[in-house]
Formats: sequence, C-alpha cells, structure tokens
Amino acid sequence: MINYDELKKKYERLGIEVPKREMIKTPEQIEGIREAGRINSLVLDEVAKYIKPGISTQDIDDIVARKTKELGAICAPLNYEGFPKSVCTSVNDAVCHGIPNEKQILRDGDIINVDCTTIYNGYYGDASRMFLIGNVSKEAQDLVRVTKEALELAVKEIKPYSRLRDIGFIIEGYCKRHGYSVVHEVGGHGCGVDFHEDPFIYHYGKKNTGMVLFPGMTFTIEPMVNMGKRGIFLDSSNDWTIYTDDGSLSAQWEYHLLMTEDGLEILSK
Ligand code: MF3
Ligand code: CO
Ligand code: CO
Repeated sequence: MINYDELKKKYERLGIEVPKREMIKTPEQIEGIREAGRINSLVLDEVAKYIKPGISTQDIDDIVARKTKELGAICAPLNYEGFPKSVCTSVNDAVCHGIPNEKQILRDGDIINVDCTTIYNGYYGDASRMFLIGNVSKEAQDLVRVTKEALELAVKEIKPYSRLRDIGFIIEGYCKRHGYSVVHEVGGHGCGVDFHEDPFIYHYGKKNTGMVLFPGMTFTIEPMVNMGKRGIFLDSSNDWTIYTDDGSLSAQWEYHLLMTEDGLEILSK
C-alpha cells in the first residue's frame, strides 16, 4: 500500500493535483471490487453466448437480469437515477445509454454495445463490449477494432504516477489518426465502492496534465468513438439515450481497471 500522506506532500510541492484520500481503495475494498468485476464479466460472457440476428434488445436485458440473479448479484442500472432497465444496449448510431426494448430487433450488419454494471457484496463492476451482428461492413468492423485498440493502448501505456489527462491524449490521438472522432461529453469514472465516483476520466486531453494517478485507484476507461463528427444529442423522448448528431456509427468499449504498482490491472472487460 502507498504512503498517501508522503506522496501527497511530494506531488503538491510540484503543483500537481493529488487524488482525494477516498479515491485510494483499501486492500479489502480492492478484493471486493475485483470479485464484482469478475462476476460482471461472467454476465457479459453470457450475453456473448446468445447474441445474434433476430433477438431483441429486451432479450439481452432478460439474459443479463437472469444471469446476474443466478450469480447472486444485482444489476446496477435498474432504477439508477430512473433508468428503467438492467443493462444499456446501444445500437449503431447510439453512442451510449440505449434502453432495451422488445421492438428493437438486432439485424444482420448491426453493431451493438452492451454495457453491464454489477453490484456484488456491495461492490461495483462495470464493463462493456461491442458485438458484431451477422455480417458487418468492413468500415464498421474497423471502427469497433480501432476503438478497442485505443483503449488497450491507454491501458498498456498508463502507469502509476502517470497524469490523468494522458489517458485521453493517447485515446483521442489514436482515434484521430484513424480518421475517427471521440465523444467529449461522456467519460469514464472512478468505480468500485459506488457506481460513478470521482475522478471523471476524460477520453481527450493534453499530455502531462491533470491529476497524478496513484496505486489503489479503481476506475473505468470507456471511450465512445464516432465514425463521423464527435457531436451528439440526447434523445428527449427518454432523456437517456445519446446518438451521434450526424447519424454516423459509434463504438465503445469499457474496461474496469485497478492501478497497481506495476500498471493497470483489468478487473472487468
Ligand atoms: N454503465 C454506464 C457507465 O459505464 C452507466 C450507465 S448508467 C445507466 O458508466 F443508468 F444508464 F445504467
Ligand atoms: Co458501463
Ligand atoms: Co462506466
């Protein structure tokens, strides 16, 4: 475990923002969050078994609700700030927070993000994956792959005592080099003892700026990447779902991470 007070003094002398004490999880909390992350990935594995053309996004909700219950856990999205379902399902130009619906049938060529958050023994695990439905265009496959590569590049490069905004610098740089844009308004977040904790994790930013990252922090990185422009709008009919302004496809992958003395450990993906 880190000596928080000593590190705080050191980085404050350098004029660098330091994480709040409660952002550094105890070994006991880390064990609980690790377990919640493991369970959360099992729920996503279950979705992977059944997702295919012809099923509805409500069917995905049913799979998530059933498997989560079977594992003795709770779906965090259900009733979270009024969210009506157990999982987020975001299809094609939906950027995030899509609401499962029995009338929304997955068709050949669709891309979908399934975002699961699980509460287990009071701790949270949060991750999302993209699924390709049937035969997907080369363009859409590339978007999905590059979005995952951007996330994995950040996971590989970010080390303890890296700066927060390096995460976004790496991700947006990589995506822009492939001709894509990154959504700015929605980001990752501290996660583990609560669903959405500080800090906000930007997916864009200036190198070598922002808070220093200490071992013991648990947070998500979850870039939303658009094939066209980065502009988005909120669906006013449900006040949840976000779409690309220009109707272009959007992809997202989310990993739940622990900062260790060696680098980022994946708790859920
Ligand atoms: N799982 C999403 C995230 O990664 C949050 C969804 S909030 C909900 O932060 F209410 F829509 F479920
Ligand atoms: Co999520
Ligand atoms: Co999240």
